Amino acid sequence: MTDSTKDRLLLKQPPEKPYYLFQAVPNKAYAICRCGQSRSQPFCDGSHQGSGKAPITLQETEPKNIFICACGKTANNPHCDGSHKGLAP
Ligand code: FES
Repeated sequence: MTDSTKDRLLLKQPPEKPYYLFQAVPNKAYAICRCGQSRSQPFCDGSHQGSGKAPITLQETEPKNIFICACGKTANNPHCDGSHKGLAP
């Protein structure tokens, strides 16, 4: 599953921040990469094929800023839960 670039606006991303922040378009489904191989992070680009892993789908009903974990420590995958604050800089 892939998304068109025009429907996703990345506002912040690593290494600037330990998370990806993008504005979700209402009622659009976003495939979030969980295999780590996508070249369009944090979005799935289909690179997981054959890995046994699959993207997580997010869909909001209202315009919303979405924070996606980039440190790998969140307990609320794929959302950032602030766990990066306990990591060494
Ligand atoms: S490319 Fe990573 S889950 Fe699809």
